[in-house]
Amino acid sequence: MPLKVGVVGLAGIGNRHAQCHKEDPLAELVAVCDILPDRADQAAQKYGVRPYHSLQEMLAGEPDLDVVDVTTGGDENGSWHFSPVMLALEHRRNVLVEKPLSNDIAEARRMVARADEQGVYLGCNLNHYFTPPAELAKQRIQAGELGELRWCLMKMGFSGGEQGYHGPAQDPRYRDFPYFHAKAFLTHPFSVMRYLCGDMTHVQAFFGRPGFRQRAGDVLLSQTSIHTRFANDCTGYLLSTRGDTPVGMGGWWSIEVGGTRGTVCIENCIEKLTFWPEPGSGKEPAVTSTGITDFEQTFPRRLHAFLEDVGNHVERRRLRASGRDALAALEYTWAAMESHEQGGRLVLPHALPPLR
Ligand SMILES: NC(=O)c1ccc[n+]([C@@H]2O[C@H](COP(=O)([O-])OP(=O)(O)OC[C@H]3O[C@@H](n4cnc5c(N)ncnc54)[C@H](O)[C@@H]3O)[C@@H](O)[C@H]2O)c1
Repeated sequence: MPLKVGVVGLAGIGNRHAQCHKEDPLAELVAVCDILPDRADQAAQKYGVRPYHSLQEMLAGEPDLDVVDVTTGGDENGSWHFSPVMLALEHRRNVLVEKPLSNDIAEARRMVARADEQGVYLGCNLNHYFTPPAELAKQRIQAGELGELRWCLMKMGFSGGEQGYHGPAQDPRYRDFPYFHAKAFLTHPFSVMRYLCGDMTHVQAFFGRPGFRQRAGDVLLSQTSIHTRFANDCTGYLLSTRGDTPVGMGGWWSIEVGGTRGTVCIENCIEKLTFWPEPGSGKEPAVTSTGITDFEQTFPRRLHAFLEDVGNHVERRRLRASGRDALAALEYTWAAMESHEQGGRLVLPHALPPLR
């Protein structure tokens, strides 16, 4: 039986989620909710579902709701997640929340702890690794085809440059927040790196911004250069930029993971995976092109996985892209910010809660 879903926050991303649920046989979209009544009403009409103007009303009006999908944004794209997520958890509903879990690490930790206490699923839209190339890369790693993982290089960025820059962001949710890019965005690359290489134990970072931003008085730290070490002794490097330079090789993001028996590289997120075997192994390099270039396809794939896991009652610790997984990415982000503030000092990320 499809899961009854209500979406909270009907701007661009909320509508994207609502459309995915509408088209997914595992979901029955029954309600939408936005504190801006027009947004809720328009979406309700579009999807043929009931509108609500507060989550409290939606929870009262939809006692059979299986999943509350929180797609609000807020300061640094994350300050409006905590209150609806906690309210839904208090009502013991399964929750899917957009990334980042929060723009406040203490809130993010509380959300994950509360879901655990309540015994419900908390998932996060870590959509970037719900792709054929990432899944295939993971399979090769798990099958031992890469041998011992030794290094991981990730490059991720919004394409841009000096001439297309029109000054600091004007939206009060982003303006005056130096860490907007780090807090709102690094969840994605960190979660892909962790998906392939495991937990990180050490982080060291330098953040910066180009001269054209500095001259315009833009406080945004739009470039992050981060060196990491993983629990399995693999080392990693993550470079991310926000419109400072044109994207180069590998498209808007690429990751390469090198092991003692083979190396894999994902190009342009969802587009292509290449595998290079160890020289002399008798194996040939293999290229898998998906024929997909549209990043938007990560949304239905990730949402479907959440519906599948909840519908199948998987053990909570086996939930794919869980709140805990999203918290790990935020802990690395906070460690990177701390390292940057201390001139690149080595920082050990805060421990994750135990897997129960
Ligand atoms: N996973 C991805 O690839 C991806 C891509 C882009 C954005 N995002 C994330 O999606 C989220 C939403 O982004 P957006 O740009 O669509 O959001 P937005 O901030 O423009 O809009 C959020 C909507 O939520 C509503 N809202 C806020 N608090 C509410 C509450 N308590 N109850 C009901 N409604 C409430 C607002 O009125 C607004 O309509 C952000 O967290 C962002 O980081 C994810």
